This record gives sequence, structure tokens and C-alpha cells, in this order.
Amino acid sequence: MLVELLLFSLVLLNCICNGNAGVTSAFVRNEWPSVDIALDDQAIAVPKGYNAPQQVHITQGDNDGKAVIVSWITADEPGSNKVRYGLSDGKYHFTAEGSMQKYTFYNYTSGYIHHCLLDGLQYDTKYYYEVEAGNSSRRFWFQTPPPIDLDAPYRFGIIGDLGQTYNSLSTLEHSAQLGAETILYVGDLSYADRYKYHDVGVRWDSWGRLAERSAAYQPWIWVAGNHEIEYFPYMGEVIPFRNYAYRYPTPHHTSGSNNPLWYAVRRASAHIIVLSTYSPFVKYTPQWSWLQEEFERVDRVKTPWLIVLMHAPMYNSYNSHFMEGESMRVVFESWFCRYKVDVVFAGHVHAYERSYRVSNIKYNVSSGSSYAAPDKSAPVYITVGDGGNKGGLATSFKYPQPNYCAFREASYGHSTLEIKNRTHALYHWNRNDDGKRVPTDQMVLHNQYWWCRRSNGRRRTKRNNQSK
Ligand SMILES: [Fe+2]
Repeated sequence: MLVELLLFSLVLLNCICNGNAGVTSAFVRNEWPSVDIALDDQAIAVPKGYNAPQQVHITQGDNDGKAVIVSWITADEPGSNKVRYGLSDGKYHFTAEGSMQKYTFYNYTSGYIHHCLLDGLQYDTKYYYEVEAGNSSRRFWFQTPPPIDLDAPYRFGIIGDLGQTYNSLSTLEHSAQLGAETILYVGDLSYADRYKYHDVGVRWDSWGRLAERSAAYQPWIWVAGNHEIEYFPYMGEVIPFRNYAYRYPTPHHTSGSNNPLWYAVRRASAHIIVLSTYSPFVKYTPQWSWLQEEFERVDRVKTPWLIVLMHAPMYNSYNSHFMEGESMRVVFESWFCRYKVDVVFAGHVHAYERSYRVSNIKYNVSSGSSYAAPDKSAPVYITVGDGGNKGGLATSFKYPQPNYCAFREASYGHSTLEIKNRTHALYHWNRNDDGKRVPTDQMVLHNQYWWCRRSNGRRRTKRNNQSK
């Protein structure tokens, strides 16, 4: 605790000393080898028992948090599509039945992939569930969120670009220590596309077993990244997102989306919008039209916190992937400011970065205003592409440090967003320093809708008092 306070004080002092100037962390990580966990390692072992369900994961199954989609794979035979669940461990009063499918990818044939919707759940309740698979079954639990409410506190974990190395495992273990109730996952899951032929499918399976230690208990809100595209003409695999789409469903229909890659969910006091960097998004495309309508559906009186997730960051000051989010910024940034998005989480760059509240919406080719400028209506942009995949860290910074960048560090890590009430949330980023979790960057996030109204109310009261 003392070390955490000391580090926080150092970061704070650094910020104060530099005024509004951004900070580039001087920390240099003694990097563990970025190699994937061996397939025979216990960390990704196939569970014991004939045809035992594996790669169990859950995600939100509706728009308001009263449903969960449970997914799993059986390797040997179809088994059962059923999930039994209830309010105490081992006593299951409810049963839901889902669907099963399998697919081939080049010469790889998947196991039997099951998806089962558990709906009509009670809010704020711990459910125990058992995944059946014929001769074997496995037990897990999950906690439903509180009802949609203006002041509902909630704790999100944010992870991106995880992959399946020992650094990835460290990220999962450290994130679990912080008690995140739901994980916002900002894309690039398995990095199986770094393999060829049969091994691509094999590494999707091993990633599913790695993530299960978290994803079977806390719902993961999925975002697709570039490593999910898997466009491989040399293998005859040319349909994008195939492995991802078969395995990781989303409740896109419940927010009026026609595509699983972009959608929205409401959870506790948050409205979460998921965008797809690698799907068409310019004017008149389905994603553009859907987002235009989705922003109109946001009700800050019910869900004060407006969070956007995407893969490629709009504001990035690393040489890695520099400006790859620029085209989406041009299309969507003015909406982010108009609707007062609180925070945008992205991944893609294998490092950490947090922006000031800035926008570049005055730039219109002919205006000459081509620099990002402070903008109180703008979100904070945070890049958490530092989950620990085999690509290693992005260590090359843009110099001079751009004015939009508040803090950056080339380390592995993960973030937590703790919503306290309608006006305040505590955000923090934790570095993985080998085996240790080190709190490194923190800020109090003021809600873009309610904090401003509160401040304006105070100013009006002050003016009224002065005029008396
Ligand atoms: Fe990426």
C-alpha cells in the first residue's frame, strides 16, 4: 500500500511539475520473452474428463444486463447444449438449452461450439451454473449487475491485445486481483493468425482455455481487432472474422445492430458502445447509420456514463500504428464531442497511453486548424493495447510528445474503471512489472453530462446570489 501511494505521488508530482505538459514514463521494462505458452503447459491444459466442456466464456446477452450468453466447446462429441443454473452451488432450478455448430478452417475442424442464452435473470444476483457435456460437466458462477440506475456503482476491467504468452497470463492474474465485475475487451484476442494452416485453429482453442479463468466468471464485452480478420488467400480462407465469429457471439440484435461487430449494451450506470475499426464506417454505411441512431438512444438520466470501445486508437503518440485510427476519427469524433462521450478505450498499440480532453473537429481541410486542441466536450482517449501478446512492446515514441498525450508508458498492463456515482469515477492503470502489479497512472473522471450540469448549477446559484 505504501509503495502504491509513493508511486501515485510520484506520477502526480510529475504532472504538477510539468503543468499541462504530457509525461513520457522513464520506466524501462525488463521484458520477459514474448513467446506463446507451450501447448502442454498446465496454464492452457484441456480440462480432465471425457468430452469435458472447455473454453467456457460468458458475455452480456441482452441490452440491459438481465441475460447472459454462455459459450463452450466440446472436443469429442456434441454432448449437451444445456446449461443448468440456480442461486446456490449445486442446486440448479433452471435449465436453458442453446445451439451447437462446428466449422472448418483450412484443414482444421473445430470442436462442437455451444452458445446458450440465460435470460430473465434477476439483477444483482450471484448465479451458479453447470455446463453439461454428457459424461462430464463443469461448474462456474457469475454475478448479474445492479439494475440500470443513475447512481449505480460498478467496476469494469479493461484489457486489450492479450495474446497467449506468460505476460498475458500475468495480465489476467493481476486483473482478477482488482475484482472487476465485467471486462471491456478492446480487441485482438488470440493472435492465432501468427500461425499457419492447422495451428491457427489450435491456437484459438488454447486462447479460449487461457481466458476461461476470467471469462467463465465475468462477462467479457467483445471488440474485434485486426488479428480477428484472418484474411488468408494462401489457405483459401478469405471470409474475414470467421474464427472469431463462430466462437464469440455478441447481443448485437438487442441494440438494433445488424452485425455482431458493432453493438451496444447498458450495464449498471454505463452505456457501452462497441465499434468495429475494420468494418465500413463512413457515411451511409450500416455501422455509421446504426451509430447515429444509437447516440440518440443514450439516456444519461438512466445511464450517465457513456463509454466507447474500438480497436485502433484515434489519438496515438507511438510510432507503432501511428494515425491508423485517423479515418475513424474524421468520421466519428464530432459525434463523440456532441454527445459528450466520457471515455474511449482502444487497443492495437502494444503500450499504454492516456490523452487530455482534446478534439480536432475544427479541421476541415480548408480551415488550417489541423492541430488537436483542448476541448471540454471531448472524451479522454485511453489505449490499453498492453495485454502481453507475442508481438512484444511498442517502445518507439513520437517526439516531441504531442500536446494531446497526457501520459504514456511502454509496458504491459491493464486498467480499471470504478464508477462511484453519476458524477465521479476512479480510473487507474496498472503496470505488470514481471510478477508484480504496480499502480502507475490514475485519474478521477468527472462525468461529461452530470458534472457539467452540477458546475453550471453552482455558477447559476452564485450569479443569483450576487445579483440579490
Ligand atoms: Fe491490433
